[in-house]
Amino acid sequence: MLPTASLTALLVLAVSTVAKPIVVRDSFVTLPFAKHLNVTGAYDLVQKDQARAAAYRQLSADSTVVSIGVTNAAQIYVASIGVGSPPTYYSLLIDTGSSNTWVGAGKAYVKTSTSTKTSNSVYVPYGSGQFRGTEYTDTVTLGTGLVIPKQSIGVASSSSGFSGFDGILGRRLNDNTIKGTLTPATTTTIPTVTDNLYSQGTIPTDLVAVSYEPATSASVSNGELTFGGLDSSKYTGSITYTSITTTYPASNYWGINQSILYGTTSILSSTAGIVDTGTTLTLLATNAYKKYQSATGATLDRTTGLLKITSAQYSSLKSLYFTIGGTKFELTPNAQIWPRSLNSQIGGSSGSIYLIVNDIGSNSGSGLDFINGYTFLERFYSVFDTTDGRVGLATTPYTTATTN
Ligand SMILES: *[C@@H]1O[C@H](CO)[C@@H](O)[C@H](O)[C@H]1NC(C)=O
Ligand SMILES: *[C@@H]1O[C@H](CO)[C@@H](O)[C@H](O)[C@H]1NC(C)=O
Repeated sequence: MLPTASLTALLVLAVSTVAKPIVVRDSFVTLPFAKHLNVTGAYDLVQKDQARAAAYRQLSADSTVVSIGVTNAAQIYVASIGVGSPPTYYSLLIDTGSSNTWVGAGKAYVKTSTSTKTSNSVYVPYGSGQFRGTEYTDTVTLGTGLVIPKQSIGVASSSSGFSGFDGILGRRLNDNTIKGTLTPATTTTIPTVTDNLYSQGTIPTDLVAVSYEPATSASVSNGELTFGGLDSSKYTGSITYTSITTTYPASNYWGINQSILYGTTSILSSTAGIVDTGTTLTLLATNAYKKYQSATGATLDRTTGLLKITSAQYSSLKSLYFTIGGTKFELTPNAQIWPRSLNSQIGGSSGSIYLIVNDIGSNSGSGLDFINGYTFLERFYSVFDTTDGRVGLATTPYTTATTN
């Protein structure tokens, strides 16, 4: 069970490595959220992750239309967000691939005295879904006490692809994309929820930190998002920060440089890719994936699309070491396998052992050569820092857990 969302005022000391100063975070907001695996059949997981990777590679730097969204995700995250005063609470999907926040797909928008209609209509396509409506400004409440006045939000008049949910909370890195979704076009940059929390002084720095824990059921509420600071109870040791990569197109997202070893064998030499909560698997450039397959002796399972290993191969599986910002992050053998209790969810058989490392669909050199997805992030605490243009990672009490 999760505690209810709360506005926490804590003094958190986050000591970063590599000659960074001590950072004092004096307040942050935590938002618990639930995760659901949204796969409808065998192979769906790999297909959705690869489609998402392909969309990331295709988007251009100043693309005005966001086309990567939660509908491309095999794994979806949901939080309860208030809009209006008094707030009506909506069940919103949290999406790192898009910037617009909007309601009205399920529960209808309830107007209050804080609801102000703008002269703009809004349209956003998301892979397999879309929404269309009117842009408003309204008060948005996160958790129980954190209030953002005059947040730009969309109110859907029609939408598809979001059954069971009320809309989206977008928290993509680059907020320049909202203005391109409005008609008539506006040249003013429209701040995202996180940008507003920062510019209104509610949070001391424009960052979001994410804590996941390994899950052994398809729907689980063990995630925590913090806005503006770090929750020191969720990580161990210190945070390693690394600058957003300059390599395009990874530079458009939460892109970093990293290299990967399997045991002592090089799988991927230093290159750019992204950290993405909306991708389930850990995807590697085709050439790196093939090296991993041959090093592990795994075979491709045509039913699930995942690599499969025998018990004997599992016993001799070595750790993967991700070198990021000068620190080696160890993904243990147990962290490299799909939770066996969830094999049937992805069309697998219960006695089999599947690997979470898969093929991104193109060779290295594409500018987006890996995606460290949820299966990586459930083992490490992650910090998405817009103010300083960097990504932070740290170990957690679950880094070496044998839950899978
Ligand atoms: C879940 O997956 C289905 C099938 O791929 C898709 O149509 C739907 O939009 C997804 N739901 C969400 C909320 O992303
Ligand atoms: C990342 O790698 C690229 C290509 O090797 C290099 O140009 C860049 O300086 C590295 N660091 C960052 C922060 O982008």
